[in-house]
Amino acid sequence: MQQRKATGQEPRSSNSCAEKDGPRVITVASGKGGVGKSCLVANLGTLLARRGHRVLLVDCDFGLANLDIMLNVQPSASLEQVLEGSASIHEAVVGVEPNLWLIPSFSGVIEAARGEMASAREKILALFEEFPWEMDFILMDVGAGIQPNVLSLHHPSFETTVVITPEPTSLTDAYGLIKLLKRQSGIGKAGVVVNRVTDGREGVKVFQKLNDVAKRFMDVQLEYLGHWQKDEKITESVLKRKILLDLDEGASSVPSLELLAKRFQTSVRKFESNREKHPVASPLRVGRFMDEPAQLAPGNTARFWRTLLGEVKA
Ligand SMILES: Nc1ncnc2c1ncn2[C@@H]1O[C@H](COP(=O)(O)OP(=O)(O)O)[C@@H](O)[C@H]1O
Ligand SMILES: [Mg+2]
Repeated sequence: MQQRKATGQEPRSSNSCAEKDGPRVITVASGKGGVGKSCLVANLGTLLARRGHRVLLVDCDFGLANLDIMLNVQPSASLEQVLEGSASIHEAVVGVEPNLWLIPSFSGVIEAARGEMASAREKILALFEEFPWEMDFILMDVGAGIQPNVLSLHHPSFETTVVITPEPTSLTDAYGLIKLLKRQSGIGKAGVVVNRVTDGREGVKVFQKLNDVAKRFMDVQLEYLGHWQKDEKITESVLKRKILLDLDEGASSVPSLELLAKRFQTSVRKFESNREKHPVASPLRVGRFMDEPAQLAPGNTARFWRTLLGEVKA
């Protein structure tokens, strides 16, 4: 796909769904880690953006954030800093490409990982409420597990999405997560994406296992959103810090990703906001690293990560 120049001032798309209502806020969660949440958020977000939707990705995997690494962008402030008031939203939002923005988090922030962000949800809700730009989708990568700091990020007005794989541990952990989401946050409905399967038939089969127990033991309504095919190209794309579509548009898992994007495009529930929003204006930085050498001050977090990844000398 041909890349347009990211100016941050693209005209509004005609198929935008934010014109009348607020954005759809979609949380992407899992019981077990490593099931592909961040890959999905990065790739799905990009696909939706390239289909003309305005998409904001929010990395809420406090302590283990990695969307900035996957999307190859340079963060200058983090969500944690915005939530604690030491940075503005303008400083934290990074333009990834036309129609796509990221609010990154910092990895290795122990306070955040320990759960001192337990009140984060209220602050995030307020942030979305005050968010000055129109978005169609806000995709939140909320991290794995059932720790209070993860659970507290969910809200009934968000569309909960749980990612599972065929591994039995992924299913049992998803069950635990969904049960706690119902009990603690009153979330009685969740979408499910089955990742790393051979085809749609396996996806449906894996979903049915989870859905059977959800129906029998929990008063939760699960909706099958689709599958993402198992594909080594996805691992290669992470290694190369590229979106799958940019690595190989013809990769075997692209059609399943496109179907998922189609499914996500169908409106389900909106985040209710009465505030008047403005079309995205220019101050959003374009932060994607190109092939240029890093020109960052020593001690800069972005430089630290690039050093760790062997992209610049220590
Ligand atoms: N559909 C897939 N097929 C093959 N490998 C995948 C797939 N989805 C994800 N992966 C691999 O799994 C790894 C972990 O994914 P990630 O998105 O970081 O998981 P999580 O955010 O849930 O912890 C990725 O680095 C990638 O190599
Ligand atoms: Mg992740």
